[in-house]
Amino acid sequence: MTLPVPFVDLRAQYATIKTGIDEAIASVIDRSAFIQGAEVALFEEEFAAYCGAEACASTGNGTDALYIALRALGIGPGDEVITVAHTFIATAEAISQCGALPVLVDIRDDTMLLDPRQFEAAITPRTKAVIPVHLYGQMCDMDAILTIARQHGIKVVEDAAQAHGATWRGRRAGGIGDVTCFSFYPAKNLGAFGDAGAIVSNSRPLIETARALANHGRQSKYIHLREGVSSRLDGLQAAILRVKLGHLDGWNAARRRLAGKYLSALAGSGVQLPETAPGSEPVWHLFVIRVRDREGLRTSLTARGIETGVHYPCPLHLQPAYARLAMPKGALPVTERVADRILSLPMFPEMTDAQLDRVVAAIADAAADTGQRAAE
Ligand SMILES: Cc1ncc(COP(=O)(O)O)c(C=O)c1O
Repeated sequence: MTLPVPFVDLRAQYATIKTGIDEAIASVIDRSAFIQGAEVALFEEEFAAYCGAEACASTGNGTDALYIALRALGIGPGDEVITVAHTFIATAEAISQCGALPVLVDIRDDTMLLDPRQFEAAITPRTKAVIPVHLYGQMCDMDAILTIARQHGIKVVEDAAQAHGATWRGRRAGGIGDVTCFSFYPAKNLGAFGDAGAIVSNSRPLIETARALANHGRQSKYIHLREGVSSRLDGLQAAILRVKLGHLDGWNAARRRLAGKYLSALAGSGVQLPETAPGSEPVWHLFVIRVRDREGLRTSLTARGIETGVHYPCPLHLQPAYARLAMPKGALPVTERVADRILSLPMFPEMTDAQLDRVVAAIADAAADTGQRAAE
């Protein structure tokens, strides 16, 4: 049996930045600056600048970032928000939490991202926003989506939880749509040491509204313009994120190099490889292949010590939580076929070439075991 390969290795990452992180944590504790404070303000400034956006409001997590961004845009009961079913449930949850209706549409087969034609076809007079999800670290076709949205007066709220640093025609996620939401869940390309999130936008007034909503709707101490939520970034997470932001480009470059190696090593192996759209430079949050016998390959890889994931096995329209949408199996054919075949391979910046070679060899062995090519 070959040495195991983890799906991600957060301990390996911490080992490379331990001194900076430990000092940052100690300094916050020394100052007792636990909720908001200087570190949070500095992180917001630095992250907005990194994204090429005017301003940033931090939140307690990425789900709240989406919910608060939608509320800041005035979206509520009676409104419809279009998004994909091929995403983590948080995207649709945030829409429902506002009292609006999630309208789930199909994806493109090549990139597995929102299909702009399906978005356009789903627009009604009640549509107030669209949430393109930059899944796996690749940005959606922002030209097409923005053109359609502008024609119909619809707001574009990007879910960039998996796409810190990804670009569309050279511009980073965060500086393109009306408002962009990020998660800093620990395993993300930029991850905190707990839950954290952020909203960025080129509209300062929108960010001020979001900032107030994230802090009980407060305008000043004990004066509340409206009800909000308690979803603040804490000082420790901000200090950690500031240290890690300085490494993000290097980590994304490492992911790109590994993705390039996977793409050449797996060419001709029989598995379907991920595709990158022209104009898009992904940051490879996940490296997702497609195979007909996904469970067979996954079992063989597990037996060989290769950890894999499936993002995501059950599309949102087929989840019990969305039975009320009454979308039967067959409603989103591309989404459903993709969900049956996808398999996420190990991918993290500290992954070594030897680890990647072991994954590639295990895929070849697994295909040989079953006496057939994995995609057949
Ligand atoms: C695409 C997507 N949207 C939203 C979220 C929600 O982020 P969080 O877990 O920080 O609430 C996540 C992360 O888990 C995600 O992957």
